[in-house]
Formats: sequence, structure tokens, C-alpha cells
Amino acid sequence: MYNPVKLHFGKGVTQKLGKAASGYGKKALLVYGKGSVKKSGEYDQVIKSLTGAGIEVFEYPGIKPNPVVEDVEKAAELGREKGVEMIIAVGGGSVLDSAKYISISMPSEHSCWEMASGKIKPEASVPLLGVLTLAATGSEMNMFAVVQNDREQKKIGYGHPLMFPKQSFLDPSFTLSVPADHTAYGVVDLIAHCLEGWFGEGEASLTDRFIVSIIREAVEYGPALLREPDNYDLRARIMFAATMALNGLTATGRKSGDWGVHAIGHCLSVLWDIPHGASLSIAFPAWMKLQESRIPERISTLGREVFGSSDPSQTIRHFSDFFSLLGSPVKISGTGIEAGDKAPARLLEVMKINEVNGSVHKLSESDYHFLVREMMQ
Ligand code: NZQ
Ligand code: ZN
Repeated sequence: MYNPVKLHFGKGVTQKLGKAASGYGKKALLVYGKGSVKKSGEYDQVIKSLTGAGIEVFEYPGIKPNPVVEDVEKAAELGREKGVEMIIAVGGGSVLDSAKYISISMPSEHSCWEMASGKIKPEASVPLLGVLTLAATGSEMNMFAVVQNDREQKKIGYGHPLMFPKQSFLDPSFTLSVPADHTAYGVVDLIAHCLEGWFGEGEASLTDRFIVSIIREAVEYGPALLREPDNYDLRARIMFAATMALNGLTATGRKSGDWGVHAIGHCLSVLWDIPHGASLSIAFPAWMKLQESRIPERISTLGREVFGSSDPSQTIRHFSDFFSLLGSPVKISGTGIEAGDKAPARLLEVMKINEVNGSVHKLSESDYHFLVREMMQ
């Protein structure tokens, strides 16, 4: 286990950002998304804390959900030009992930995509501080980042210890403004991270219990939060659960997670820009149906521990119903996207381009066909 991220959690923690940042230098590149942080006031709080500590701030706004390589390259160029000594990411997973790639691209002569696709290893990184505004990915406390290359129709996840944020600031009140749909997608995503671990390689009974506890937390408090989106305590519970779901805790003691479902979900995002969590509420039930006869016991144990019923088909239905209850789609047809008649063929093609597979549960071409059929209807 290795996790060097210093985590600050609670109301008002961002006040400490400026002082923490001054430990890394005097010039920062502030990276954020399409403007939610300005509307809800997080931007002002961050700027106040940074300028109060004498930090000069340069900005790269406009990171899109399902972030793209072009933004990383442009932001890295800006960072080099201004000679920034640190990167400060204020946003959700898309902003944090982009900032991770910016931090390894800035000192490198290689492109972000060369590193994301594993061709070149990063050799250095600019210190990164995260200010999280959306509970979902766990990016705030892990070394992974996902980026999309539209030209190649690929979305790739990559991780390297140089990509850990140095410190992350989690104020649950920063997530009070997250709309219902993205709140739901965040709950789905954190459950999906637990499930990728659950279906991984190797036996780890204590880790199984961590996983089950996190999923039960999400199953209990996720719907409660959607009923009471202004409830700080519920926001805090979900935020903490999301961070714990992908910071190493749910992977401990196993050789690997599976991550096949994430690979499938990324294809839905590349093709139709479907938000990450929504892609997973579609892909997970389909994948579990595919695996039902192959690993019935593993699905059954999960069902017993989480929902109190050990029938594998019922377990799959429970997850699917739970995602629907949150308001996250369980079929492509439920996303509101006009996918068209060619959608199944296009999805198959993009799955092949991305060489979609799990680390443990290998997928054949006929499995691809099954999954596409299941996700479509
Ligand atoms: O762009 P802005 O205006 O900021 O709006 C965002 C965006 O539209 C909005 N939002 C964020 N905080 C808000 C808010 N709206 C109101 N109030 C707030 N406080 O939410 C929308 C979605 O943001 P995004 O960052 O895309 O969401 P999320 O955190 O779910 O991140 C998704 C990305 O992370 C990757 C996904 O693939 C996807 O690209 N992942 C990263 C992982 C990691 N680094 O470990 C693991 C995950 O499995 C995942 O793959
Ligand atoms: Zn995820």
C-alpha cells in the first residue's frame, strides 16, 4: 500500500489552501471547469486563500467533462510559459485528472497522450493540490487519471506515483451545488469502484468487508442525499465514501481489480459523451448478466452482504433497480441520446479500437455482442 496524499476534510478546510500552497512556491496555475465553481462561490474562496498567502495565480478554465488531451497540452504550455511552480485543480474528476496530466506534461518533452497510452513513462511532475467539488471518482486521493483522444476515439486510464496530488482539500459544502444527476452518477461511480475491486484477482476477506461497507454506505445514504440535497452531513458521508472507494483501500490484498466495466463505460463516453457514472450504471448490470453463470458464487456473496438476498439474478436486479432509483440510466436508450440505428455497430467498433477487456474476466468477441445488446435495449 502506498498513498502519500495529505487529505484535509471538513467545513472551511480551503482556508488552509494558501498556506499549504506557499510551501511549493509563489506561482500557481489554477485549473477549473466550465464555470460551476464561479457560480457557487468556490472560486472566490480559493482565490482569497491563495492571494492572501501571496501566491500569484494564472488560470486555465474550461476543462470539459470527459476531458480531452488538447486542453492538457494547452494548459501545460501556459504553465511552462508562466513558470508556475504548482498546479491547483478546483473541480471534479475531469479537472483533477487533467491537472494530473498537466503536472507530468509540463516538465516533459513528450505529449500527454504518449504518457497516457503508456508509451513513455513520466519522469517528473509539478506539485498538484486538489480542491474537490464533486464526490465521485476518488481522483483526489489516487494516482490515476483518465483522458480522451477524440481523433483516435479512445479514452484511457493511466496511473503513476508521480501523479498523486500532494494535498487535497475536501469541503463537503463545496458539493452542495452539485445537481441531482451528477450527485447520482457520483454514487454509481463510487459503487462501481468497489465492484471492480470485488471482481478482481485474489482472495482478501478484510478488503471484501471494506468494499461491502462502502457500498452499504452508498446504498443507505445515496437515495437519502437525493431526497435532501442540501443536507451537509449526507454530502459529507458520500464524499468520504467516494474517496475511500478508490484510494487503495478497496484494492489491498488483491493482485488487481478487474476494470473491464470501466473500459466498456469509457466507450460510451467517447461515442456519445455520456457522463462517466451514467456509463457505469448502464455497463455494470450488462456485465454482471454476462458473468452470472461464470461466477455465480461471487455475485451471490455480494448480493447477500449488500442486499440480504443471495440469488445472483436478484442481485443484478437489485443493483440495476438501485441505479434507476437514483435516476441514473441503466440502458443507452435511457440517456436521452439519439444513438440511431448504427449505434450497436459503432459501439462494437469503438470497443474493438479500445481493446476493451478486464484484467481478470476476459471478454471475447461474442461477449462484446452480448454486452452491446444488453446495454442498448
Ligand atoms: O465544468 P463545471 O462547470 O465545473 O461543471 C461540472 C461538470 O459539468 C459539474 N460540477 C462539478 N462540481 C460541481 C459541479 N456542478 C455544480 N456544483 C459543483 N460543486 O459536474 C459536471 C461533471 O464534472 P466531472 O468532473 O466530469 O465529474 P466527475 O467527478 O464524475 O469526473 C469524471 C471524470 O473522471 C474520470 C472519468 O472517466 C471522467 O472523465 N475518472 C477518474 C478516475 C480517477 N482519476 O481515479 C476514476 C474514475 O473511474 C473515472 O474514470
Ligand atoms: Zn469510475
